[in-house]
Amino acid sequence: MLKSRTELLISGMEPLFNSWGRRGETVHRTYLEQFLQQYSPDIKGHCLEFQEDSYTSYFGGSQVTKLDILNKETDNPNATIIADLTQPNDIPSNTFDCIICTYTLHIIADLDYMIRELHRILKPGGVLLVSVPDITVNYYQDYELWRFTAKGLHLLLAKSFGDENVTVKTYGNSLTAAGELRGLSTPDFTKAQLNYHDPRYALVVCARSIKKPENLS
Ligand SMILES: C[S@@+](CC[C@H](N)C(=O)[O-])C[C@H]1O[C@@H](n2cnc3c(N)ncnc32)[C@H](O)[C@@H]1O
Repeated sequence: MLKSRTELLISGMEPLFNSWGRRGETVHRTYLEQFLQQYSPDIKGHCLEFQEDSYTSYFGGSQVTKLDILNKETDNPNATIIADLTQPNDIPSNTFDCIICTYTLHIIADLDYMIRELHRILKPGGVLLVSVPDITVNYYQDYELWRFTAKGLHLLLAKSFGDENVTVKTYGNSLTAAGELRGLSTPDFTKAQLNYHDPRYALVVCARSIKKPENLS
């Protein structure tokens, strides 16, 4: 639990802890998991996730009949598909029932191309679940390009999926945003603190986009 909020503000220039690597305990991952839990009924059939099976099996369970892992680089032993989704590629159209694309779009230069590809490879009626950062630390050593507001993510996805087929949700508040920037993680907050929603201070922006079923197009 966060013992003293003033400690957060006055205890030096550097973050209290460097907790960013602790997957599952970082506040932004906790929020992402709330989102995936809510939409877990969508995680079924033939699924695609980026880099590794962080979420598909956990949230989809026995609803998942096949899982592919996509990586752009060739050196990932988890990968079943190597492809650059900002270039012409070999992935057949209308393949996946669900795509989980977490913390990836902020490193993609040609976002419009990538979203068109994600839409193309989904089956009609299939669902894309996305998470992107809003308020967060900058890792200048990494290839990070973008941060997203709810409106920006909605605009981007709606170009391919259509306005009415995109639902965007934000997570966080000024306390959890400041806390995460200062190195605190999920166990430092109460449930009420974590779940207080103030869209002005989103740590994570998530979206569910559904590819229009064929009989409606
Ligand atoms: C930082 S990882 C994030 C995924 C991870 N599951 C997570 O939640 O943190 C980024 C993933 O996007 C992939 N990627 C990066 N650029 C890509 C591109 N142009 N086309 C397809 N995948 C790409 C990388 O190979 C990697 O698997």
